[in-house]
Amino acid sequence: MSDPMSAESGPVPARDASGLARGASLPADGPIVAGGASRSLRHESAAMHVSGSATYIDDMPEPKGLLHVVPGLSTRAHARILSMDLDAVRAAPGVVRVLTAADIPGHNQISPVGKNDEPLLAEDLVSYYGQPIFAVVAETRAAARRAARLARIEYEELPAILDIAQARAAGGALVWRALEMTRGDVLAGLAAAPRRLSGQVTMGGQEHFYLEGQAALAQPGEEGEMRVWSSTQHPTETQHMVAHVLDRPSNLVTTEIRRMGGGFGGKESQANTPACLAALAAELTGRAAKMRLDRDDDMVMTGKRHDFVVEYDVGFDDDGRILAVDMVLAARCGWSADLSGPVTDRALFHADNAYYYPDVRLRSEPLKTNTQSNTAYRGFGGPQGIVAAERVIEEVAFATGLDPLDVRLRNVYGTGTRDLTPYHMTVEDSIAAEIMEQLARDCAYRDRRAALRAANRDSPFVRRGIALTPVKFGISFTATHYNQAGALVHVYTDGSVQVNHGGTEMGQGLHTKMVQIAMREFGLASDRVRITATTTGKVPNTSATAASSGADLNGMAVLDAVRRIKDRLTAFAAGHWNVAPEAVRFLPDGVHVGETIVPFPDLTRAAYLARVSMSSSGFYKTPKISWNPDTGRGRPFYYFAYGAACAEVAIDLLTGETRIERVDILHDAGRSLNPAIDIGQIEGAFVQGAGWLTMEELVWDSAGRLRTHAPSTYKIPACSDRPRIFNVALLEAAPNREDTIFRSKAVGEPPFVHGVAVLHAISDALASLDSYRTCPRLDAPATPETILRTAERLRPRAGG
Ligand code: MTE
Ligand code: HPA
Ligand code: MOS
Repeated sequence: MSDPMSAESGPVPARDASGLARGASLPADGPIVAGGASRSLRHESAAMHVSGSATYIDDMPEPKGLLHVVPGLSTRAHARILSMDLDAVRAAPGVVRVLTAADIPGHNQISPVGKNDEPLLAEDLVSYYGQPIFAVVAETRAAARRAARLARIEYEELPAILDIAQARAAGGALVWRALEMTRGDVLAGLAAAPRRLSGQVTMGGQEHFYLEGQAALAQPGEEGEMRVWSSTQHPTETQHMVAHVLDRPSNLVTTEIRRMGGGFGGKESQANTPACLAALAAELTGRAAKMRLDRDDDMVMTGKRHDFVVEYDVGFDDDGRILAVDMVLAARCGWSADLSGPVTDRALFHADNAYYYPDVRLRSEPLKTNTQSNTAYRGFGGPQGIVAAERVIEEVAFATGLDPLDVRLRNVYGTGTRDLTPYHMTVEDSIAAEIMEQLARDCAYRDRRAALRAANRDSPFVRRGIALTPVKFGISFTATHYNQAGALVHVYTDGSVQVNHGGTEMGQGLHTKMVQIAMREFGLASDRVRITATTTGKVPNTSATAASSGADLNGMAVLDAVRRIKDRLTAFAAGHWNVAPEAVRFLPDGVHVGETIVPFPDLTRAAYLARVSMSSSGFYKTPKISWNPDTGRGRPFYYFAYGAACAEVAIDLLTGETRIERVDILHDAGRSLNPAIDIGQIEGAFVQGAGWLTMEELVWDSAGRLRTHAPSTYKIPACSDRPRIFNVALLEAAPNREDTIFRSKAVGEPPFVHGVAVLHAISDALASLDSYRTCPRLDAPATPETILRTAERLRPRAGG
């Protein structure tokens, strides 16, 4: 395979019972010869990742005189600050300076949506337990940490609102406008439906638990320049925030990031606090300053996935056809808006999952609470909407006695009919039904379901369940203007290439895919194409690397830059060797110029001597999209990514524990840019999704203090929690019908939703307790406690 992109996706590796990959998901890198990399080029940093030599912010060589910044956090959930005595902090050994709101030369505001509701440092009011009030700048991190504890702050406590129920009881203050989507007449639809039921589903939040915590290093330069290395998904926003806080134009601030040790949405907006505090310390001391949050501080300070309570009212018929759906989706947003508006919007955009609702009304309730400001997290509200949609399906299945898979297939979007979403976008390519059917066949869903049900009858303590759920996920930022990207490509005279683009690398393989695009277009091997750190100095005005659209947007911008350079080289070669421009082709064995094959470096040297520019920027904006939240109508998404997962679980009724026995996933990545990386994304996303719905649990006490503030108390999936059998396949021969980069589809977030299959498999296992008569109404996370409580509710009473 000589072309890094063009080969069709090959068969996807099966996994053996140990869960280890057989064959192609651990692809050979391919020899480093011209154009010789396989499509499954390994991650550009793979060797550095596994050998520990990849550089993260805290690994960078420390500048001379580096200072360390540690925040002082609120110990009240909601209070007025009456007095603040920081004398002991200032006097502590090693302390150079203590920062408070009064020290900020510019604006004490870092709201990412311009709402002015998020001070960098609290002034006279604290709004959650863990809010930064001051920051200690010291010679060492240990000295700063010790000193931070010496603050004496007097508070006047105010009533704190900690969760959705309390927020509603107190009048339901919102951090953002509520959104309503309607199509048809939901009340008439519900009234006319032969059958009707209503209920509520609750799902918890989720800590990002990126391996590398929030971190930033700032270095002052001359005449107000500030360079900030920040573990951020959004270098441009970090640049803007630092500029606002320091009160200077953006052209004096440069933000740079080579890679993050994971972001998962947690560094889309919330990387700004450490970056701004490090920059403030650097500004006021004239020395470089670093802020690297301790894990406990990180968990206590920063926002998480939004927990939701969804109320639903559904009308349907005896065949399991949904006729009308009315839902209210309430979210705990925390103390400030942050990204909660677009997150709760996206929950509404996915409250249909893959299903057509003839009459529908969806309403959001982005509730303000005195807790961390919840933020982006893989799926960005979409998974929460989908959990609600799948609960509705499950309710209809139990009410009608149908297999939930049949209810799914009966309600899935059609193509050309029953194809209009609640936001009035037409689904042009609904393939959810085909994917579900193919997966059900491939993993023998129906036979296994029958066998499990029979076996459960004779199994007093271990019950098994199975479920097959689809995902349809909208790709594009819902704020249309974010859907743009830039790149900057340099070709040097020796024929080596440097690729820069606006996206950030957080482990997802974006940089690898960008390198592949340049390799393919120039016909070069991977060792001739170098990706560099992302910096606002090279590509300005970028969007966050988020909404799964990093490769879609930046890939097209890289392609644009590369093609501009190729056009110039082609014109030069055609003139120089006297051939038609069409006779110039960039191939793995060199540049074909008519009958001659010119090595790429020979061409670039000749082009340089002829004074041809071999550097270009590139730009891309997504076509076709628009969205108007005031009317609730538009085409917010360029296209949809699809997939389905089938999970089989065993639950232990004595301990409440779950074991994931087997998972089969069929996922649509279009014509995958890199099948190995995409399969890795699907595997990781599934495990993260299953973790959210089964074991990760956030607990606050009545004072609003997060008690699950460290790995000691917050449980994320471990290797041993992976499915015993784990088969992941990419949908074959499925190029994107839209003109995306080489017809691929975004893959970062959609497969997170496959974790929903595990929740439903657990529910199926529990349903066996009353012979599958009632919907278990299993809430998430389905921890052992929740499972035991649900089992208690379902089990027939002795003698009753
Ligand atoms: N994969 C890894 N390894 N680490 C991450 O932090 N973030 C996810 C996903 N996959 C993440 C990841 C999220 S939330 C998004 S939006 C996408 O990657 C962003 O990258 P992309 O747009 O390039 O897919
Ligand atoms: N998805 C992810 N991140 C975002 C979005 C979105 O739709 N909008 C703003 N940030
Ligand atoms: Mo991803 S939640 O859009 O960073």
